[in-house]
Amino acid sequence: MKIRKVVFPVGGLGTRFLPITRAIPKEMLGIIDKPLIHYAFEEAMAAGIEQFILVTRHGKNSIEDYFDYMFTHSRHFNIKMGSVCYVRQNEPRGLGHAVLCAKNLIGDEPFAVMSADDFILHDKSCIGEMIACYDGSNMAAVATVPREEVSKYGILDVESESGRLVVAKSVDEKPSVDAAKSTHAIVGRYLLSPKVFEVLINLKPGVGNEIQLTDALLEMIPSTGLTGFKFEGQRFDCGSKEGLLDAILHVACLDRSLKCVIENFRGN
Ligand code: UTP
Repeated sequence: MKIRKVVFPVGGLGTRFLPITRAIPKEMLGIIDKPLIHYAFEEAMAAGIEQFILVTRHGKNSIEDYFDYMFTHSRHFNIKMGSVCYVRQNEPRGLGHAVLCAKNLIGDEPFAVMSADDFILHDKSCIGEMIACYDGSNMAAVATVPREEVSKYGILDVESESGRLVVAKSVDEKPSVDAAKSTHAIVGRYLLSPKVFEVLINLKPGVGNEIQLTDALLEMIPSTGLTGFKFEGQRFDCGSKEGLLDAILHVACLDRSLKCVIENFRGN
């Protein structure tokens, strides 16, 4: 099934990176020489996505400035005029609310959602691989996480598994270690039915007093289904300091001169 549009929610506060996120959006933090949002954009382009919708807010203007520059000066961003647009999230009320802000720009077709702070290092586009398997049910990328980390994620209750696909019978946002039904954790790549907007618009705030996308996915399981996609490649939680540093070190190791710097540091 063709997916033409992607939503990049970039309206979060980035509190785990304070104080730098007072002035620099989390999505503009760099892995060596490119910001996180650049990598996510490349992953979407490699998947054949044609329209790019950034849900932004006060203090995030540098993202727009960055892409203005890249679209004019970089051969890598060879996209059609008018294929990038920005919509505002007036206040950070959660990922589900950010997705809802893109409703009028999506219309009535399935679409992708990508969180730039989940950086996936792989030679194939993760969202592209998801699109290749997409059958119209809601789909989320899933990683197996250590049990002690389940309370950071949306966790699937598994009905059945076949190859890279996991059919969920339920999903729980940030469960306790004891309550978690599996260690299949949702990470920031989704393919969603446009029916999600009808659910999000009526959804009450959930965990953290935020409108949770996971709660909408749960409500839609009887009508639309929910499939987890076990992706390949290494995923880094660049919303955390540890994850960002780990990603920087891994990308640096792909470059001979930067790898030498790391080896010298280790030798000291
Ligand atoms: P996070 O859960 O990492 O939240 O958001 P955050 O606010 O960015 O960071 P912390 O937890 O305070 O450190 C996951 C993704 O959803 C976006 C974020 O920008 C990030 O890409 N988001 C989150 C929004 O766009 N709007 C929101 O209201 C919340």
